[in-house]
Amino acid sequence: MCGIIGYIGNKEAQSILLSSLGRLEYRGYDSCGIAVASSSIKVYKDAVRVEPLAKAMPQLSGTIGIGHTRWATHGKPSQANAHPHCDCQDKIAVVHNGIISNFHLLKQKLISEGHNFTSETDTEVIPHLIEKYYDGDLEKAVETALHQVKGSYAIIVLAADETKLIVAKKDSPLIIGIGDRENFIASDVPAILDYTNRVIYLEDGDIGVVTSDEIRIKKEGREVDRKEHKILWSVEDAQKAGYEHFMLKEIHEQPKVIRDTLGEYAQATEPNVDLERIRDAGIESILILACGTSYHAALIGKYIVEELLRIPVRVEIASELNYYGQIPAGTLAIAITQSGETADILRAMKRLKGVGGRVLAIINVVGSSASRIADQTIYTRAGPEISVAATKSFIAQLMVLYWLMMSYSKVDARRLASMLLGLREMPGKVQQVLDNEDKILECARYLSAYENVFFIGRGINFPVALEGALKLKEISYIHAEGYAAGELKHGPFALLGPDAPVIAIVTQDNTYEAMLANIKEIKARGSPLIALAKEEDGTIEELADSVITVPKVDAIFSPVVNTIALQLLAYYTAKERGCPIDFPRNLAKSVTVE
Ligand code: G6P
Repeated sequence: MCGIIGYIGNKEAQSILLSSLGRLEYRGYDSCGIAVASSSIKVYKDAVRVEPLAKAMPQLSGTIGIGHTRWATHGKPSQANAHPHCDCQDKIAVVHNGIISNFHLLKQKLISEGHNFTSETDTEVIPHLIEKYYDGDLEKAVETALHQVKGSYAIIVLAADETKLIVAKKDSPLIIGIGDRENFIASDVPAILDYTNRVIYLEDGDIGVVTSDEIRIKKEGREVDRKEHKILWSVEDAQKAGYEHFMLKEIHEQPKVIRDTLGEYAQATEPNVDLERIRDAGIESILILACGTSYHAALIGKYIVEELLRIPVRVEIASELNYYGQIPAGTLAIAITQSGETADILRAMKRLKGVGGRVLAIINVVGSSASRIADQTIYTRAGPEISVAATKSFIAQLMVLYWLMMSYSKVDARRLASMLLGLREMPGKVQQVLDNEDKILECARYLSAYENVFFIGRGINFPVALEGALKLKEISYIHAEGYAAGELKHGPFALLGPDAPVIAIVTQDNTYEAMLANIKEIKARGSPLIALAKEEDGTIEELADSVITVPKVDAIFSPVVNTIALQLLAYYTAKERGCPIDFPRNLAKSVTVE
């Protein structure tokens, strides 16, 4: 999965491409490059991040260009494998996001026809195929080339002798940003927000011709109209706003995210999500599917559904659902994905739709691929999330799950009223967690010296333990495992001791006594223990080595405050260890490969 950008207009393309690429680095950052055309094509690329590339780069004059930031799939990060890729004569340059699954066969054929390849990438077949079919009509050549190609792609094609860019999309995201006598093409909105907030989302099968003052889009040979959307995010939303890292900014935005997401649905005094297209369909069970952090939101969703709706819930990792599992009739599938572009979830959603399933999607990115597959979409209002590690999008997903399930709840009116109050108080409670940073920082300093950490929780906070461990491992590179507290004695006990700290999530619900017993067992085995517990717990202070307090909330909402404390713990631990927090090694924000 990669980020691509294109510019055509009356300004020098180089600086626009480089600044936009900087905003796309969350999609991949092991190499990057740009190509600028003015009668000939000049390419500059390397296996470095955008900033060093920009510093080392000579002036490339021209007002049309394309750029790419890469997350390697075919071939290691290297200058040769970085995009853009060109044809034999350097007359055609292409940037691509996606995977060409039949590239091997195409490459062999092209080589036998005399084409020279310089990289190990799947992408390089595209400029060579276009070269093969190009006889003055670039759009036609791209169309013919793409007929040969299997797999997924979002591409931008630049040709030395043309004053237009050709774009095409299938199963990878691509947008066109509309400017004043200039146009932009990008994988995602943050890349172009500095220049325009007017955006067209391309659909699968679209091929477009973009000049500085015209955009023409065709699908299956016919001209199509794609609606213009106004993006409400500001440039500041997509920038750091004085915080050292996007992740810290995004953690601190969570009270606002909760207000915005609930504000979308919660103006009424009653929970009121209307499943217009899915309603009255006789829902007998729910299947929730997701990946990564969204999967942990899905697991928490199971507890919420079972408490509020009292119907069976199954939670699946989307990539697993792709290979097994029957979907019983009467099942509503809920797909949770912040990006709406994760390949595994798109595939699972298509599979569900293929067998007649109904799919509701919870997504943060408006117009993303998942929203076009789903029968109905509920948007979280987290705004752009740049840091690879998901934080605010997770909390927004929980808010939608609470509100959605409360809308269809079978609990009595008193319980519902107290939950409503609890939700309304949530931004303030979260702020209290954020104000407790000093204590969390102290624990993070302590934790940063270790290489193995366990997180434990029970009930609705078991998925929080999984999420706490995921956050810590992805950004601090400390090996961390989340466990159901009761499972620790079935194996991990063998690893406990002074070198293996345990973070215990202790909630004031029916799991409390059992957690205290587990903590005693852990202490008896010599592991340092940090507890996450509500303020004025009293007992915990005597058992744990250190306590991070979180405000008292209804147990069903405890994942919100607990997760946010663990996000901060991971952040400060990673900072203490000097890790590149927003862009951890080998990871990417939007995983568009299986
Ligand atoms: C990547 C990201 C994670 C995210 C996961 C699922 O691994 O780094 O932060 O949780 O993908 O993404 P989705 O967009 O489907 O929620």
